[in-house]
Amino acid sequence: MLKLSVIGTGYLGATHAAAMSSLGFEVVGVDVDQKKIELLNQGKVPFYEPGLEDLLLAEVNSGRLKFTTDFAQIKDCDVHFICVGTPQKKDGLAADLTYVDASIASVAPHAKAGSLIVGKSTVPVGTAGRLASMLREVNEKVELAWNPEFLREGFAVEDTLRPNRLVVGVTSDRAEEILKEVYASLLKDGVPWIRADLPTAELVKVAANSFLATKISFINAMAEICEASGGDVTVLAKAIGYDPRIGSRFLQAGIGFGGGCLPKDIRAFMARSEELGAKQSLEFLREIDSINMRARARVIDLVRIDIGQDLKGKKIAVLGAAFKPDSDDVRDSPALDIAVQLSQAGANVSVHDPKAIEPARARFAHLDFSESIEGCIAGADVILHLTEWKIYREINPSAIKSQVKQAIIIDGRNALDRDLWVKAGWKFRALGRA
Ligand code: UDX
Repeated sequence: MLKLSVIGTGYLGATHAAAMSSLGFEVVGVDVDQKKIELLNQGKVPFYEPGLEDLLLAEVNSGRLKFTTDFAQIKDCDVHFICVGTPQKKDGLAADLTYVDASIASVAPHAKAGSLIVGKSTVPVGTAGRLASMLREVNEKVELAWNPEFLREGFAVEDTLRPNRLVVGVTSDRAEEILKEVYASLLKDGVPWIRADLPTAELVKVAANSFLATKISFINAMAEICEASGGDVTVLAKAIGYDPRIGSRFLQAGIGFGGGCLPKDIRAFMARSEELGAKQSLEFLREIDSINMRARARVIDLVRIDIGQDLKGKKIAVLGAAFKPDSDDVRDSPALDIAVQLSQAGANVSVHDPKAIEPARARFAHLDFSESIEGCIAGADVILHLTEWKIYREINPSAIKSQVKQAIIIDGRNALDRDLWVKAGWKFRALGRA
């Protein structure tokens, strides 16, 4: 049985390590963050991801899964998965590859002859080629492959163990064989396998995320047109989605995409296309990004229509801080961005989220966070529904009407039952619905 190492233990790495251990492999997870490692070794996940903590605890208890800060512990491993982050650079659109470069530099001296380093992080095309040359200088007996990861937060375990495809960028048959051995049980279940060269494998990930971002911004552009013409984007999305060539998924109009992937990936892709002399090819992504950012501004416009231009002293209740439900991730969260902008405009903003209050507070300590929905909405001039957690759909609009100052709700995710709220006497507004 192969032994595996996983470098980086964030959403991607922690999930990958636990999932690979559940397939029966011995896995050592490595991270530079001592506190994170201690938690993981106790079977505790330092972020919220449904199903992951149970899996992690079972795997740590099985003895197959260990975490460490010591890179020397990977010396017996046959495959090393690089799962570190590639955030947007502070001074531009490009991806910051500091952590990827550092992990290759840390793994290379300890990797045994014949072992395979497999990048899973999302990187600009050409990175794997550059890293392979870097690797050859330090340890020529180790090969590099790229195996992009498509997991969604909130479904990380399921997406890792039951992916809709496996893509491997390899430069030898041997590398492909090793990866086939790692994923043998998934292949037996019929998961499609795609062998590619290194640049194609890197591109598959950013192309997929660009397509998804485009789909969301497309429907949000239609929402703008619906607003201008009196149409209803939710009906429009349903109707076009029945065409199997279009498909109904990722056509949920609202305040748009955020998180640690889609926004930074399309920006890094644009930056890379410019370096490649192919800027024009991805010019459309600039518009995708603009449409996405405009959706946030449109919510603020709707707020002003109802409670006035001057927001000073107005109480605004924001339901949701995470970038999407079933996650506590607030990176580039559209909901939090709107809350911050309203607060900067002088409003008294109260934010609720079932899981993301602590991470949100760590970034925006000046906002007022509420542990309960009741506390959040008490005395509100308007409620904004900005992350579509199930508990918000279960709110009884009649029951809470007496707790607010003005019964006005803006559904930034088109996920609430409009008729229910209107029947209960609320003024109901949503993006893309007249
Ligand atoms: C995404 C990709 O889906 C995944 O394959 C990749 O590996 C990482 O990036 P994730 O960031 O977890 O995953 O979130 P995703 O479910 O794609 O949602 C991204 C954002 O788009 C969220 O803010 C979500 O609220 C928004 N969204 C999604 C919409 O606004 N409308 C939709 O119809 C779908």
